Amino acid sequence: MEKYAETLEEYQYIKALESGRRFLEIMNKYRCAIMEVETKLNVLNSEFSLQYDRNPFESIKTRLKSPKSIIEKLHRKGLSATDGKVEEIMEEHLYDVAGVRVVCAFQEDIYRLADLLLRQDDIHLIRTKDYIKNPKPNGYRSLHLILEVPVFLERGKTPVKIEVQFRTIAMDFWASVDHKLRYKKDVEDEAQIVEKLRQCAETISTLDDEMQRIRNMIEAGGEKHAED
Ligand code: GTP
Ligand code: MG
Repeated sequence: MEKYAETLEEYQYIKALESGRRFLEIMNKYRCAIMEVETKLNVLNSEFSLQYDRNPFESIKTRLKSPKSIIEKLHRKGLSATDGKVEEIMEEHLYDVAGVRVVCAFQEDIYRLADLLLRQDDIHLIRTKDYIKNPKPNGYRSLHLILEVPVFLERGKTPVKIEVQFRTIAMDFWASVDHKLRYKKDVEDEAQIVEKLRQCAETISTLDDEMQRIRNMIEAGGEKHAED
């Protein structure tokens, strides 16, 4: 038992405070990674809008996973965060404690933005999940990048994992509605509903392709005018 604790209760209380403090430090690291990636994307957006007179993304949202969701996810994965080990377990098994979601109008801008981000030399790509080229069976589409970014803290540089999701407005619309529906209990005719949602995702994807085509047509026309 530590010298400063005279009873078991005191010892347990101090331990709880210590692990609470440690958890806050870990969460702060993820919060800093979010700030960094958000800034990087905002910088790209602003440079892009100067160069091409349009913003590649419509909105950017960030979220830090709540302690409750972290514990639930570790539990789902059959892991328990034992005292003192929580940082290692989170770092190894959870890639989405820090999350950034970028919503673009056009599919091409998604890939351009992702490419520009990945070219930055302090960004390390851990994994790409391209659910646009390979949608999930239920129709879910988005480009997910699991990145590692360096966060500079008092005790030095530490790499932090972060999940960045890129979607079009249409994909985001589908995912939001899907998310709402899936949390509804007692859905009757489940298979039919799943199939209907998948069809909606197809329709949305066709719409995205059409919108991209229209933009390409407009841009090609713009170039012709510029040449005249
Ligand atoms: P999670 O435990 O849900 O984080 O899944 P995962 O770690 O296996 O990764 P995956 O790439 O499947 O999903 C990561 C995130 O993408 C999720 O947390 C959601 O934000 C989003 N996502 C994935 N699949 C779906 C889906 O079918 N519907 C919706 N609405 N969102 C999804
Ligand atoms: Mg997740």
